[in-house]
Amino acid sequence: MRAAFASRFDDADPLAALTVGEQPEPSLPDDDWVTLRVTASSLNHHDLWSLRGVGLRAEQLPMILGCDAVGVDPEGNEVVVYPVVPTPGDPRGMSILSEHFPGTLAERVAVPRSNLLPLPAGLAATDAACLPTAWLTAWRMLTTKGRVDDAEAVLVQGAGGGVATAAVALAVAMGKRVYATSRDAAKRERIAGLGATAVEPGARLPERVDVVIETVGAATFDHSLKSAAPGARIVVSGATAGHEPAVNLRRVFAMQLEILGTSMGTPAELTGLLAFCAERKVRPVVDSVVPFSRVEEAFARLHSGDVFGKVVVDHTS
Ligand SMILES: NC(=O)c1ccc[n+]([C@@H]2O[C@H](COP(=O)([O-])OP(=O)(O)OC[C@H]3O[C@@H](n4cnc5c(N)ncnc54)[C@H](OP(=O)(O)O)[C@@H]3O)[C@@H](O)[C@H]2O)c1
Repeated sequence: MRAAFASRFDDADPLAALTVGEQPEPSLPDDDWVTLRVTASSLNHHDLWSLRGVGLRAEQLPMILGCDAVGVDPEGNEVVVYPVVPTPGDPRGMSILSEHFPGTLAERVAVPRSNLLPLPAGLAATDAACLPTAWLTAWRMLTTKGRVDDAEAVLVQGAGGGVATAAVALAVAMGKRVYATSRDAAKRERIAGLGATAVEPGARLPERVDVVIETVGAATFDHSLKSAAPGARIVVSGATAGHEPAVNLRRVFAMQLEILGTSMGTPAELTGLLAFCAERKVRPVVDSVVPFSRVEEAFARLHSGDVFGKVVVDHTS
């Protein structure tokens, strides 16, 4: 079957490590796994990390990339894939598709049956394919970790990204006052269109916020600390611009800040997110939809950094 996979690692030029070509049909590691026909997937920064060699070992190559999928199960049902699978031997006890088990950027993918959720009525496959990784991460950052119900104002850093646009759209839909930084004037304009107040990175906000959504890391972390109200939650799920920021600990204890790490979310949280999007008519922010036949272009677009929202891959064209 046709698939997009890491054939080697290249830290400097991850696109050079990407191969699109034939791979063996999925094998089922256990009785409760099934094979899906993938109809839509989306890219995540995770796929670029994998091509750089972060989180994968050479002996795991070739590894089919892709964490997100909507597909058709063996009974013909349209399903959304929860991408976190139990993985004995991994120190986390779990892994995300494409870390140990082949990923979703393929014609077909094997997943445990218990990881399949029904595609809600009214939600297009290409929209739902954005939700299981980036949007789920943003949902958990806001709800379970950030306790956003108790918040009035939220700051989202690096707001052009997949997780960040999700956090902006969700926090606006929850009725919060949302501030978002982006380096790019055109992206700031589009963020404002989502209902947030867009500012340049590092800009002083008109008020301190109760929740900060951090996926950028070193480039923005000091601003996150300075923007936080007493008792605020700074929730971290990524570090695109560096994972070793200087942290002013005086500010952390004097302002009684909580710095919380998180990764992905639970099946119950994905169910909650799907219901929220379907009922509240919230739709993912989609940068572009690229046919699977031109999947290399999707990678190039994500790698350019010039994205606003999710890069989706349509496997039916
Ligand atoms: N832990 C998890 O479960 C989980 C899940 C999903 C993602 N992540 C992580 O979260 C991060 C974002 O993922 P994504 O898929 O949303 O990535 P993405 O779509 O590629 O977005 C990255 C964004 O970061 C901002 N950025 C990058 N370099 C920056 C810099 N030097 N200064 C300021 N901003 C910068 C950019 O925003 P602007 O251009 O608007 O400034 C960019 O749009 C990644 O590190 C990823 O690994 C973690």
